[in-house]
Amino acid sequence: MKPLGVADAGGGRSVGLTIADSRHHLHVIGATGSGKSTLMANMVLADIEAGRGAVVIDPKGDLVPDIIARLPERAIEPTILLDPAREDIRPALNVLAAKGEQQTQLVVDNLVGIFRKIYTAYWGPRTDDIMRSAALSLLRGRDVP
Ligand SMILES: Nc1ncnc2c1ncn2[C@@H]1O[C@H](COP(=O)(O)OP(=O)(O)OP(=O)(O)O)[C@@H](O)[C@H]1O
Ligand SMILES: [Mg+2]
Repeated sequence: MKPLGVADAGGGRSVGLTIADSRHHLHVIGATGSGKSTLMANMVLADIEAGRGAVVIDPKGDLVPDIIARLPERAIEPTILLDPAREDIRPALNVLAAKGEQQTQLVVDNLVGIFRKIYTAYWGPRTDDIMRSAALSLLRGRDVP
């Protein structure tokens, strides 16, 4: 159970969200300054604290700095920050990170699948073949001096 807070009604009962329910959509509605971002930051930090993975998309830019400032020590290294607005850090997500033949096939398959979906209108079997071969060549050639 993820604690959300204490209810105003019902004599101050604790209110929470089960882990299974938290995988579904959750609407947080409140006036400006009522604590929506603080609640979301606390929920993300609770997930991280419990060892659950979390993806945060922050179009406004105030939530991520708040979370980063409060990240536990052991969560810093595995955290990937993608910030297109900053020139001093590069996106550090290697979409071709794979170990071994099985992972290589899977990673390339996923990548080609994503491009096929994004560029459906321009995608054909030839493009599919070229992209798959190019990605496989990049991965296979990694250890060649
Ligand atoms: N439970 C709480 N108790 C006391 N103060 C709180 C609580 N939750 C948030 N605050 C404080 O209230 C202020 C506004 O919180 P927050 O930024 O989370 O609001 P918001 O609903 O996200 O606002 P906005 O709509 O502008 O994004 C912050 O200073 C925060 O520290
Ligand atoms: Mg906010």
